[in-house]
Amino acid sequence: NTFYYIKNLSDLEIKLKDKLNLRRVLVVAGDTENDIYAFYDLGKKAAEIMLNFIKNDTVLGITGGTTMACTVNHMKSKKGLKNLLVLPARGGLSEELEIQANTIAANLAEKLDARYKLLHIPDNLDKEGLNVLKNNKLINEVLEDIKKINLLVFGLGNAKKMAARRKSDKEVLRKIESENLIAETFGYFFDQDGNVKIETNSVGITLDNFKTIKNAIGVAAGSSKAEAIYAFSKFNNNFILVTDEAAAIRILEL
Ligand code: G3H
Repeated sequence: NTFYYIKNLSDLEIKLKDKLNLRRVLVVAGDTENDIYAFYDLGKKAAEIMLNFIKNDTVLGITGGTTMACTVNHMKSKKGLKNLLVLPARGGLSEELEIQANTIAANLAEKLDARYKLLHIPDNLDKEGLNVLKNNKLINEVLEDIKKINLLVFGLGNAKKMAARRKSDKEVLRKIESENLIAETFGYFFDQDGNVKIETNSVGITLDNFKTIKNAIGVAAGSSKAEAIYAFSKFNNNFILVTDEAAAIRILEL
């Protein structure tokens, strides 16, 4: 097994940080796609980094997915901080409850004794329906709060897998295939050079918001996400990446 030949993870972290030109890279041992304990380690590492950044007055945004769920499940409680607000970074109700951003945000808030707000907006809504919802007073309030996120923890996915999981419409699937789209995050799809090619009708954080967020932590691992991580880092490199050896080795080969 190739993964265990790398004795020095910090060497891998430095190489990856240089290749992707990121703020900081953390690599956990092994292959999280094929080893549940490695996946737990990824969650623990991501949770540790996230906790370091949580201070009084933090507006913390979190996305959905299995990696974010694992991160919050492995986070230790930290109480006593003042004026914390936790928000789901996007709507999205098409997946199982456990991995929806809303559920994860509520669980995270509980561990921090923080206030939270939820965003009940399904994926793949048509424009008209979306506009009605966006103009709802309560939803609008959450969307305004999302603009104030100063710590974002987000998952990143392989475009094809995410479109299938979110039951995206045929047009989206066709475009992903024909334009060879690689990465997905917060409902946006990117090509291999980090260009945004599709904005699905998802509500929440926008890419312009994202670029201005002071501290962002991306957690994505497994060799099937290697190209997605590489592509997204070309879109924006102002984030900390937490990944695994399998993805790191694959990215360095690209
Ligand atoms: O947008 C990307 C997904 O949220 C990643 O989901 O952590 O289950 O692979 P995952």
